[in-house]
Amino acid sequence: MLMEKQYTRSDVDVLLSAEQISKRTAELGGQISLDYADIEQPLIIVGILKGGYVFTADLARSIDISVEVDFLRVASYHGGTETTGEVTYILDLDRDIEGRDVLLVEDIVDTGTTMKSLLRHLGLRNPKSLKIASLLEKPEKNTAGIKVDYLGFAIENKFVVGYGLDVDEQLRELPFVGVMKNT
Ligand code: IMP
Ligand code: MG
Repeated sequence: MLMEKQYTRSDVDVLLSAEQISKRTAELGGQISLDYADIEQPLIIVGILKGGYVFTADLARSIDISVEVDFLRVASYHGGTETTGEVTYILDLDRDIEGRDVLLVEDIVDTGTTMKSLLRHLGLRNPKSLKIASLLEKPEKNTAGIKVDYLGFAIENKFVVGYGLDVDEQLRELPFVGVMKNT
């Protein structure tokens, strides 16, 4: 049996601390609460699994208007650290978003391929509005020209892990965002 390589905290240098992330998340939550203060039905927050699960939980808890939380699961990476350019839908929303305000919540916009596909996919269902919140963005690589409406941090073009982001499905549980030491 091929043994999986195991990663731990010691493989990672901190890039964004838990404190920095929570401060920024609170700011974004405040801004979102203001921007959507007058909507007639609850804001639908769509967390993008798996990477977006931590940011979705924290952002939703920093918003003080009515929200509904749903999840979508896509995969664009198949194990490695480079995108395949192909987006596979693994789990779809369980409710109708027609006429509703929808906020997609992602961990990171890298090449923008995933977001571009999501915007097209969900746009076809005629939401009232469709915006993007992402904890991270690698502006250097944002080739699909995606505009992130609520951005946590712009980072350098390095492979990052933690706070939902994985390396071979590991290290998602780190409370901070870090850079792999050997990359
Ligand atoms: P994109 O389609 O190239 O924008 O890639 C988006 C997806 O790739 C994100 O939702 C992440 O799941 C994954 N991803 C991109 N960059 C990183 C990284 O530095 N670390 C871990 N996952 C990443
Ligand atoms: Mg992701």
